[in-house]
Amino acid sequence: MSLAPTSIVLSSPSPSNWDPENVSFPEEFAWGASTAAYQIEGGWDADGKGPSVWDTFTHQGGDRVFKNQTGDVACGSYTLWEEDLKCIKQLGLTHYRFSLSWSRLLPDGTTGFINQKGVDYYDTAIDSLLANGVTPVVTLYHFDLPQHLEHQGGWRSGAIVAAFDAYAQFCFRTFGDRVKLWLTINEPYVLATLGYEEGVMAPGIKELGTGAYQSAHNMIKAHAVAWHSYNQLFRKKQGGLVSIALNSDWAEPFDPNSPADQEAAKRHMAFCLDWFATPIFLDGDYPAIMKSKISAVCKRQGIPSSRLPEFTDAEKMMIKGTADFFALNYYTSRKMKHQENTNAQPSMSADKEAEEVTDPSWPVASGSSWLAVVPWGLRRLLKYIKDTYNHPIIYITENGFSQSDPAPLDDTQRWEYFKLTLQEILKAIYIDGVQLKGYFVWSLLDNFEWTCGYRSRFGLFHVDFENPALPRVPYKSAIEYAKVVANNGLVKSQE
Ligand code: BGC
Repeated sequence: MSLAPTSIVLSSPSPSNWDPENVSFPEEFAWGASTAAYQIEGGWDADGKGPSVWDTFTHQGGDRVFKNQTGDVACGSYTLWEEDLKCIKQLGLTHYRFSLSWSRLLPDGTTGFINQKGVDYYDTAIDSLLANGVTPVVTLYHFDLPQHLEHQGGWRSGAIVAAFDAYAQFCFRTFGDRVKLWLTINEPYVLATLGYEEGVMAPGIKELGTGAYQSAHNMIKAHAVAWHSYNQLFRKKQGGLVSIALNSDWAEPFDPNSPADQEAAKRHMAFCLDWFATPIFLDGDYPAIMKSKISAVCKRQGIPSSRLPEFTDAEKMMIKGTADFFALNYYTSRKMKHQENTNAQPSMSADKEAEEVTDPSWPVASGSSWLAVVPWGLRRLLKYIKDTYNHPIIYITENGFSQSDPAPLDDTQRWEYFKLTLQEILKAIYIDGVQLKGYFVWSLLDNFEWTCGYRSRFGLFHVDFENPALPRVPYKSAIEYAKVVANNGLVKSQE
């Protein structure tokens, strides 16, 4: 069954007839949805898969995850891939983004032992996507580090760089004849701050003031080394593109007339997006504003050298320019207020000297208290990326709105959020001149939403986690999104 209506022709925009609901997206725009291995696959120890840090973290219990839920079964995609494919086809997607489970392919994280069953699973997925005209976009690593590598220090250890490179090369060699769009690491910001600084996500390391900086340092190097491997060993033959999925809020000053708040908003961008994007897209080094702020705070705290590690000159050369396009995950915006750090206790969030304030007038997605819905923030963020990072080609590799469980299939409100977002994207493309080539909804399916477990539903398809068959049923948003995909644009009457 296809959810898409017959396609209608939409007019091209011109200043006089500008109507976002009557304007096509650019030709060959990529329409996608995204998922991640741990959040959907289940089969946590099936067919020789090794444990990942998320298996360990959830199995330890301790109420760190809602109701101590786990991804042991999740959406069952390891055995129900055909059902996922049906959803993808119903939406008419041109692209599907998913991640490989590192420890399903390499159970201890190293190429010493390759799990052929894991290779077979992803081969099937990739082949069937291509057979259905859907372009696979593959994330090498989306939070689920093999536990064996975490035992060796995980992202805090410099040894991870070579391990990641070996894994990346293995994936390029194994799947790169068919996969042409690669993302190395998903959201290093989230992983570094929540996994290694605050310890609220796996692997649950709490090292305030150093954990995020140290782990991010190795993630940036690992990404860059893998990009070079692709560039030198595979690009000529395979002809693909490699980037990294960076998440970012958009930041506005709390008081637009306060220079201190304006600076605080800039610092929020520096400590969130630019932390990774400046070295990778510009000059191989951290943003100046971040370096000077952290070293000033450290001085006040009596710490002789900055807690932010430094790249050597050779590393800067190696890191600079290691992305073939810009992959952005956007969910929300924040207002930022200057806040002096008088803390003796080091912490990355205090280093920023900026406090996040949510505007009470912004609606909040019912399934995620942090997700203030600010579609125009995305437009500003896209323009910021265009202006700051030399007008790159951009793909929005994640964007979405959660509902809380139980979630109605008629999610009219949520579709309104999507529509407003798509309108802002059109303005970014046609008014601001942003080179946006694709949009991916997070997520194809309701899935294991990390510490929120299954109570936060981001799917275009509802999954009944109580039913062992794990049936997938489209929300209204799926039906409407299929129309957008089919028409390559919003359509006026969608009833
Ligand atoms: C992550 C996803 C997550 C989504 C919603 C992103 O940070 O990449 O794994 O489910 O946001 O929270």
